[in-house]
Amino acid sequence: MIVQSESPENIQDIRDLITLAFTGAEHSDGSEASIVDGLRADGALSVSIVAINADEVVGHVAFSPVSIEGVGAGFYGLGPLAVHPSYQRGGIGTKLVRAGLLRLQSLSAAGCVVLGDPDYYSRFGFKCDPALRFPDVPEEYFQCLDFSSAPRHGVVMYHKAFYGK
Ligand SMILES: CC(C)(COP(=O)(O)OP(=O)(O)OC[C@H]1O[C@@H](n2cnc3c(N)ncnc32)[C@H](O)[C@@H]1OP(=O)(O)O)[C@@H](O)C(=O)NCCC(=O)NCCS
Repeated sequence: MIVQSESPENIQDIRDLITLAFTGAEHSDGSEASIVDGLRADGALSVSIVAINADEVVGHVAFSPVSIEGVGAGFYGLGPLAVHPSYQRGGIGTKLVRAGLLRLQSLSAAGCVVLGDPDYYSRFGFKCDPALRFPDVPEEYFQCLDFSSAPRHGVVMYHKAFYGK
């Protein structure tokens, strides 16, 4: 299994993988692959990591800048994260997230936020913090991980690609 940054030849495979992984997912509206395309097109796909097994893209994770109270604060959002259904629960998602978080730290990121299952993401150190809010979502589903001690508080917004723009 190779875990590395995306390259241009992975782009269609990433699209297909994300579509497959999210098909039937309860929380999915089917937009995840186009979100990643929108981020890439806008130069906002800051970190994009693939897991490749025998030349097949079997996992992918994206990270993009978020704003806090409308201001870029060196924070990034994790997601979407997708693992091929035949390879799930084999540690690939964990490897992708860990690789992505290391990459963010190498970019001097201040921190990362994630919207998703708290049980899954807490293993990476993500925690709920009432100082960072994401509207219209139960608060336990929105977590953050700080890489610095810089103060931050307010409402978090993802890149416009997440809002269909
Ligand atoms: C969620 C997902 C990325 C996890 O990837 P994975 O490679 O299967 O996960 P890992 O093998 O690294 O982790 C397995 C652990 O996570 C847990 N886990 C796996 N999928 C989970 C899920 N959907 N919710 C909660 N926990 C989950 C397993 O119980 C396992 O726990 P353990 O280590 O204590 O046994 C993958 O299941 C997937 O692509 N799902 C469909 C798309 C999706 O929902 N993406 C996340 C939302 S952005």
